[in-house]
Amino acid sequence: MIRKMKWIEVNTYDEMSEVAAKIFLEQIQKKPNSVLGLATGGSPVGMYKELVARHQAGQVSFKDVQTFNLDEYVGLKRTSPASYWTFMHNNLFNDVNIKQENIHLPNGEAEDLAAECKAYDARIDAVEGIDLQLLGIGVNGHIGFNEPGTPFDSMTNIVELTTSTRTENAIYFDDEAEVPTHAITMGIQSIMKAKEIVLIAFGEKKLAAIQKLKSGHITEDFPASQLLKHPNVTIIYGGTN
Ligand code: PGA
Repeated sequence: MIRKMKWIEVNTYDEMSEVAAKIFLEQIQKKPNSVLGLATGGSPVGMYKELVARHQAGQVSFKDVQTFNLDEYVGLKRTSPASYWTFMHNNLFNDVNIKQENIHLPNGEAEDLAAECKAYDARIDAVEGIDLQLLGIGVNGHIGFNEPGTPFDSMTNIVELTTSTRTENAIYFDDEAEVPTHAITMGIQSIMKAKEIVLIAFGEKKLAAIQKLKSGHITEDFPASQLLKHPNVTIIYGGTN
């Protein structure tokens, strides 16, 4: 069944960040021990800044919040400057009162990666699932590292990164050759199990992806299209026309 997504068009990146932050803020105020699904990349940086500011203004406490990140590179030390663990600490975790034991990212350094994938989904299930999941979207419609062609029923798994994704992410490394070839990512089904989803996208480059999503056509060639079947999705987007 196709459900109706909520579309919020904004004029600026900062407005997108504020609108998204407000949804997260209200979630934490409503349920102080919320389980949040978080994302890395350029899209959420402003939202994290806003959450840090609200925290510093005493408006929100992360004391009992748990977080699960969507993905992490395989074979990169978590303390590496380009790891998603480092990104999250620099952009959010170091500046709020979250407990270290409540922070979860897939472990890309695990010896048994298949076991780590299973364990990650089990850890999410153990806290009764994600209350609110943040997503960005790739120009090709990817969510997390789920590239076009990923089965909709995928759970957390190991993926080989496409050349275009490695090129896009090279900005975080000294050299494109240093971008890992594989990543561990929550699957599309792992994402769909979240109770509520917020997807943020801003800028000209995302135009085609947003238009495709709006067209309502559901296909594994465009991973984000599966979100059309989720009962509670808000898309906050702008700068695309
Ligand atoms: P971005 O990436 O936020 O850096 O644009 C989003 C994505 O590719 O999922």
